[in-house]
Amino acid sequence: MKKEDEIMKEINRNLYFDNAATSWPKPEPVYGAAEIFMRQMGGNPGRTGSTRTLEAERLVYRARAALARLFGAPDPARVVFALNATDALNMAIKGIIEPGDHVLFTAMEHNSVLRPLGGLKRAGLISATMIPCSGEGVPDLDFLEKSFQPRTRLLVINHASNVCGTIAPIDEMIAVAHRHGAYVLVDAAQSAGVIPIDVQASQIDLLAFTGHKGLLGPAGTGGLYVRPGLDLKPWREGGTGSFSELDLQPESMPERLEAGTLNGPGLAGLLEGVKFIEEVGLQQLRKHEMELYAYMRKKLSSIPGIKLYGPEAPSRCTAVLSMVMEGIDCGELGYILESAYGILCRTGLHCAPLAHRALGTFPEGTVRLSPGYFTRKEDIDYLSGALEEIAALKS
Ligand code: ALA
Repeated sequence: MKKEDEIMKEINRNLYFDNAATSWPKPEPVYGAAEIFMRQMGGNPGRTGSTRTLEAERLVYRARAALARLFGAPDPARVVFALNATDALNMAIKGIIEPGDHVLFTAMEHNSVLRPLGGLKRAGLISATMIPCSGEGVPDLDFLEKSFQPRTRLLVINHASNVCGTIAPIDEMIAVAHRHGAYVLVDAAQSAGVIPIDVQASQIDLLAFTGHKGLLGPAGTGGLYVRPGLDLKPWREGGTGSFSELDLQPESMPERLEAGTLNGPGLAGLLEGVKFIEEVGLQQLRKHEMELYAYMRKKLSSIPGIKLYGPEAPSRCTAVLSMVMEGIDCGELGYILESAYGILCRTGLHCAPLAHRALGTFPEGTVRLSPGYFTRKEDIDYLSGALEEIAALKS
């Protein structure tokens, strides 16, 4: 018979390996802050001068300031809130592009970049060139150097791949782009709250992030950092609670890019997520995730029939591991992992078809395993045991 503590261990097992889709669980204060905002605050930030409204506005400012601090931004007003990274990327791309422009993007981009660019291309407004990536997801810097055209306005870089975690050498790529007079948009959907980012040191022009992944906040939050001096056309126009007499979006930031009622409960939760990161320390979080990645990769690499993708060295990637198992379809493997073992992961193309082409896993895709801060080594032992059993049955 199993001992009570063994049973409890099983009950408490964290079998959630889909943190690259959205992090879970959240730090406890994240849940409470969203509820307190709705139950006790309830004001609309920036609208009227009532006590509740001012309290809500102060909270939104604290969230903005915390994000500016985390990203090394010189001014919280340059952090514009958005619904998620997709929303922020659309805001950036459509706010900076002029008809006739040329855009560069890497093969690791997500559909949140590929589709806006595809739409602009289809409408005959822009041309675009893909920077190929190696089988490990690393952009070809020689190709990048040769790809600039007189009208190249923007380079979009996926900071960390949502398919295999590969971290792009953004500082080097930004230096090349700036030398050619292009702006750089960094998609930090998978890196914000995971890898240290300093927008000033790295000279990032635009940084798009989501709140519900590495920043440990609720879904429906995210934002765009816009470098001081860079003026984007507003993509979304409407009420700001300021300059109401104007029939155009105000010039001042963040209102220029931030119309409509903000997600107060979400931002209250996001603030707690960022505070948690500050308390634990980003370096410590990163160290923990690198350890988990190395441990998971080592365990899985010894299972016969499993092929792993992405870099072996944890310093070159986030804790996102793509794999396939010989003789079994990825979707089926994902189904077995959940139905027979309770393990959650994401299978298929992960909204990044070109990344899978680079890795050689298109069109079948992969099984993606993404542990998070609350994953423990024993959870990885359980995962690896499950994969071992499935592999043995299939061989
Ligand atoms: N883009 C998210 C993922 O990779 C949702 O799963």
